Amino acid sequence: MAHLLVTGAAGFIGSHTCDQLLAAGHTVTGLDNFRSGRHENLAAAGRSPCFTLHEVDVTATGALDRVISAARPDAIIHLAALVSVQESMTDPALNFALNVQATHLVAEAARSHGIRRVVFASSAAIYGDTTDLPIREATDKKPISPYGAAKLASEALLLGHGAAFGCTVRCQRYFNVFGPRQDPASPYSGVISIFDRRYRAGKAVTIYGDGSQTRDFISVHDVARANLIAATRPDVRSGAANICTGRATSLLEVVAVFRQQYPEVAAPTHAAPRTGDIIHSRGAPDDAAAALGFRAAVSAEDGLRELIRTG
Ligand SMILES: NC(=O)c1ccc[n+]([C@@H]2O[C@H](COP(=O)([O-])OP(=O)(O)OC[C@H]3O[C@@H](n4cnc5c(N)ncnc54)[C@H](O)[C@@H]3O)[C@@H](O)[C@H]2O)c1
Repeated sequence: MAHLLVTGAAGFIGSHTCDQLLAAGHTVTGLDNFRSGRHENLAAAGRSPCFTLHEVDVTATGALDRVISAARPDAIIHLAALVSVQESMTDPALNFALNVQATHLVAEAARSHGIRRVVFASSAAIYGDTTDLPIREATDKKPISPYGAAKLASEALLLGHGAAFGCTVRCQRYFNVFGPRQDPASPYSGVISIFDRRYRAGKAVTIYGDGSQTRDFISVHDVARANLIAATRPDVRSGAANICTGRATSLLEVVAVFRQQYPEVAAPTHAAPRTGDIIHSRGAPDDAAAALGFRAAVSAEDGLRELIRTG
């Protein structure tokens, strides 16, 4: 059994990752400054004797050193970040601090404490608005936001550090993650959590465009499992892989599942497509299967039904 340090532990993906690590019998040290994370996300983890939480900022001087010296983890799963593309546009300096500088501090902490593995939350945002589908790891990286650029820079920082100092680095390029605990209050949250919130309130949703646009929606349970595998499976080698399903789901298909569950809610309204919105996105899942033995197991429909049932 391993001891994992999870940054961003109180967030959407972080809390599910902690839950799965603990369920598998690992020890988890969580770190979060609660910028966007929530205490209630850690309700289950907090009941485990194998879980410790540190309420600190990754970028605070000496914070990582103190936490790592106390916990002595085998690996770090680095999920803490400024997660909003829009916020990265309005405050690129903060995006640099929380996404690039923070990753550099994690890489340095791993080096100085001799940690042998780092798993990093990268994003499909590094590919920009490519129309070359499915998106493969070799697809051109052309980020179109400071957020996407920071994720790409972070991958390079970590992989370079890893190669130089003998640490295995796995960069996990998540596609559109959805599931319980995604913050629906954020105006920048994923479309599914926004739809979920409106249907729960009995309100019709607005679809920009005709609804035929598609995304590669992946359940947070699959993403957490991919993190667990990347952090704990023996004989994993450094690299980057898409964490996606390989399947395209349209917004109309998403809405159809909600409408089945909420027949009393009025039909969606349509608004003009938003400029800059990507029409179709779908990843190729084969590299993650080869490098990690990971394939998504939860269908978009099953994941949506679970979200609607449990919230
Ligand atoms: N949700 C998605 O669809 C998606 C897609 C691609 C990549 N990602 C990446 O996955 C990671 C997790 O995202 P999420 O969706 O769970 O978002 P989230 O906002 O729920 O989680 C991020 C967590 O990091 C914490 N945090 C932020 N800055 C911190 C700091 N300086 N020190 C300590 N803690 C800090 C926040 O409080 C929060 O708990 C992020 O790196 C994000 O960029 C998410």
